[in-house]
Amino acid sequence: MKGIVLAGGSGTRLHPLTLGVSKQLLPVYDTPMIYHPLSVLMLAGVRDILLISTPADLPGFRRLLGDGSRFGIDLSYAEQPHPNGLAEAFVIGADHVGDDHSALVLGDNLFHGSGFSDLLHEVVGGIGPDRDGCVLFGYPVRDPENYGVGEADAQGRLVSLEEKPAHPRSDRAITGLYFYDDQVVDIARDLKPSDRGELEITDVNRAYLEQGRARLVDLGRGFAWLDTGTHDSLLEAGQYMQVLEHRQGIRVACLEEVALRMGYIDADTCYALGEKLAKSSYGRYVMDVARSFAAAAARNGDR
Ligand code: DAU
Repeated sequence: MKGIVLAGGSGTRLHPLTLGVSKQLLPVYDTPMIYHPLSVLMLAGVRDILLISTPADLPGFRRLLGDGSRFGIDLSYAEQPHPNGLAEAFVIGADHVGDDHSALVLGDNLFHGSGFSDLLHEVVGGIGPDRDGCVLFGYPVRDPENYGVGEADAQGRLVSLEEKPAHPRSDRAITGLYFYDDQVVDIARDLKPSDRGELEITDVNRAYLEQGRARLVDLGRGFAWLDTGTHDSLLEAGQYMQVLEHRQGIRVACLEEVALRMGYIDADTCYALGEKLAKSSYGRYVMDVARSFAAAAARNGDR
């Protein structure tokens, strides 16, 4: 399975913050926003990832993430010169995806919840009941009119889908994480721009819906799907991460830790990565994680 992180756009709702810096490079407490969607793909076992952003912002992502090898992933980059819509990711990323299945995640989407990794593995293990189609995730929100909105039948099959409807038929927002079979590039290539001039991901998903091949997985009360679209929601997302860290001592979307737990890097490599950042509490956390992981492995080896 191939991965795409779409991290373009102009972040106009966050101006002036985003006049000089890409939205997806802004901090969410102590972590660059882009770590969040990247960690989701890594947790899903996706290691071959294309990051798409604007020509002006790509150098910042390259500086931060490089070729991904320090996290045990293969990261490449492509430009989206104009925000022509989310589905354009599959036109730009057609060669990257090839004949494979793929996952798209929006660079400003933050997920956290117990059991999320297991859920991702389940989804990647078999897209849809017949190992094809697409899988979307629904999350109950107070303001569904600001999102794609879906409804599922009792079997979890998507039965309706609308983009930012004035009168939503459900409170299930469609999150910015999408899993597709090998048809998605052809579907995206056939799309016509919508009234607002964009290639809509909702139109891609509607094509699957019309074939009865779209699944909607509910992220329930135990999950957090956080928005970062406004100054307030960005601050609140940071506060959420801060509370978790202060209360439980855990960090969400620490890429070094994800890479270690997924077996993409070993504990020595993880420790060395932490050491390079040791002046920050983030770096010291990475070192602690590596130390505890190695100690637990040694204990298990002793048994
Ligand atoms: O976040 C989930 C929502 O994302 C879904 O519920 C909607 O169905 C989907 O259309 C999308 O809605 P948004 O209104 O949030 O889309 P927005 O145009 O704000 O773009 C989302 C992110 O993708 C944002 O960080 C900018 C980036 N982007 C957007 C466009 C249109 C790109 O990188 N390229 C683009 O062409």
